[in-house]
Amino acid sequence: MERIILCFNVVYVRLRYGPIFRTNVAGRPVIVTADPEFNHFLLRQDGKLVDTWSMDTFAEVFDQATQSSRKYTRSLTLNHFGVEALKGKLLPQIEVMVHKTLSNWSSRESVEVKSETVTMAIDFAARQIFSGDLENAPLKISDMFRDLVEGLMSFPINLPGTAHHKCLQIHKKVREMMREVLRKRLAEGERRHGHGDLLDHIIEDKKTETFLNEDFIVQLMFGLLFVTSDSISTTLALAFKLLAEHPLVLEELTVINEVLRLGNIAPGFFRRALRDIPINGYTIPEGWVIMIATAGLHLNHNQFEDPLKFNPWRWKEIQPSVVAKCFMPFGSGMKQCAGAEYSRVLLATFLHVLVTKYRWALVKGGKIVRSPIIRFPDGFHYKISERKN
Ligand code: HEM
Repeated sequence: MERIILCFNVVYVRLRYGPIFRTNVAGRPVIVTADPEFNHFLLRQDGKLVDTWSMDTFAEVFDQATQSSRKYTRSLTLNHFGVEALKGKLLPQIEVMVHKTLSNWSSRESVEVKSETVTMAIDFAARQIFSGDLENAPLKISDMFRDLVEGLMSFPINLPGTAHHKCLQIHKKVREMMREVLRKRLAEGERRHGHGDLLDHIIEDKKTETFLNEDFIVQLMFGLLFVTSDSISTTLALAFKLLAEHPLVLEELTVINEVLRLGNIAPGFFRRALRDIPINGYTIPEGWVIMIATAGLHLNHNQFEDPLKFNPWRWKEIQPSVVAKCFMPFGSGMKQCAGAEYSRVLLATFLHVLVTKYRWALVKGGKIVRSPIIRFPDGFHYKISERKN
């Protein structure tokens, strides 16, 4: 198991410079903090002392949201992907999708699980968001998202040939496709049959909410598809590998926290100081960017013994206070991930069906790199077969 690759050099950096230090990201000074108490404090001051910030590449693709539009996005997501939606309609649909997907995979010679799970996650989310109105489009939206993710983590130089340039081109194309979907729906007007999906919900709210203009709606649909695809597919691809290498764990279905802890799909998330913040005799100046380094929290040996080891059993003994301050794959506080429950349910259902009904063997690939998010350069190609007993 490539412990070192998974761990991201945040462990090394943390040990060398301590839990809070200054560095540069893409030419910008950034304070990195893997200090549980300070992070907890900051996230409880969200909106007062700090506010959301995105890397330049992300900001260009996901426009910086205003306070009211962010709140709207959160409540809309919770409405369509939250606990009530899961109980009411999503869970049975997720089960059907997982059974169908795995059965299809088992009929093939080999499957590259990362890209196939992107397809699964995008197709499913697109159905919830706009009833799959793009199903017959000439370009497959899941293919486009795969290329887009590569560019998002690149250096933000917009010149032909760079990954960033390609990313912006795909972003433009996907947005055009979504604008088409939206315009068609709007043109249907009152004649349209209710799809009961997220887009219908937005179109209804558009009558009263002024910020719901065409650009914002397109951006929102795009953003939601993006978050539903990459995070879930990366977690699942990692789970395939970790479970295959630790067969004893197959008995243990509470593995999801451990995969999320070790996975640290993104090394952290960002905030911007709204005013000067004193910490340990220093001052973080107003306007500076702060990275809440979740990878540094999740791999802290004071809280997680032998932190690079895949050990799902550790969760039986971990104190709730450690979970509250040192384990935040979905963030924490008022901006905690609105898709957390959905992701957990989807991941749990998938892994349950996988380990109880199928076996899998690596055919090729399996290399993991961090650049800085987890990538699988040669893919993870597995032969999936149905269990006979
Ligand atoms: C393994 C899967 C996922 C992981 C690890 C993840 C992680 C995160 C994290 C760390 C944040 C907080 C960022 C911050 O505080 O700045 C966040 C926010 C968010 N996530 Fe996720 N996410 C996942 C899946 C999803 C899915 C499937 C959806 C949609 C259905 C979603 C929707 C959102 C939204 C709307 C926010 C913004 C919440 C707000 O600002 O109030 N996420 N996510």
